[in-house]
Amino acid sequence: MNNSPIGIFDSGVGGTSIWREIHKLLPHENTIYLADSKNAPYGPKGKDRITELSIKNTELLLEKGCKLIVVACNTATTNAIKYLRENYDVPFIGIEPAIKPAALQTKSKAIGILATKGTLSSELFHKTTDLYTNGIKIIEQVGEGLVPLIENGEIDTPEMENLLKIYLKPMLEANIDYLVLGCSHYPYLIPKLKTLLPKHVTIIDSGIAVAKQTASILESLNLSTQEKTSGDCLFYSNGNPEILNEILQDDFLVEGLVF
Ligand code: SIN
Repeated sequence: MNNSPIGIFDSGVGGTSIWREIHKLLPHENTIYLADSKNAPYGPKGKDRITELSIKNTELLLEKGCKLIVVACNTATTNAIKYLRENYDVPFIGIEPAIKPAALQTKSKAIGILATKGTLSSELFHKTTDLYTNGIKIIEQVGEGLVPLIENGEIDTPEMENLLKIYLKPMLEANIDYLVLGCSHYPYLIPKLKTLLPKHVTIIDSGIAVAKQTASILESLNLSTQEKTSGDCLFYSNGNPEILNEILQDDFLVEGLVF
């Protein structure tokens, strides 16, 4: 039994889509969420810089006593989780585009993947894709500009809609029946995406899978809390805490923090 918090970090507000699933599945666990909005987006940055930022976030969460760290950012997972696992003692859980379930279920044999440049160009992404997508057409699309709009709270805007239409066009032309969201920010676009996609296209994100993986690792390492009351959820942002508050739409306290 261990009442220390689960640490979760992302390049900004997007990883709250992962935190939400973790909190739903493990409501008694304390959590600390770190939004590195000042440095968002991570997507266009190089591997070394992404690793440097991931180290800084990890060390802050460790200072706060976290027992396990969820890297709730696809770009940081695909570029830095190997380094983190090799250099720190706590368990790390990462988030990767859910290519496997899409590849196993597609009937049209065409799936779309919307992710950042950092994720799509990473070695880990290519390894996973090569492993599961034999005979399946993959339409990869960099979601250039989407993360900054989400970080600014500009989700339901004509600019967002225009970008999404451009990014979905080649996928629709290829007759995809699955769209994989390969960035933790993108689940906040699901309502908008549903208005732009035909009904038969299924959208997949990785939040529930990450939450289940977190539960299973805590259990197997004997790190689960035995508390029966609702866990404390703390949120820290080095950007505008108001945007995080708006995204959470709950009574959680978001603190501004310089890091
Ligand atoms: C980004 O910071 O560019 C996106 C975060 C992610 O890849 O999940």
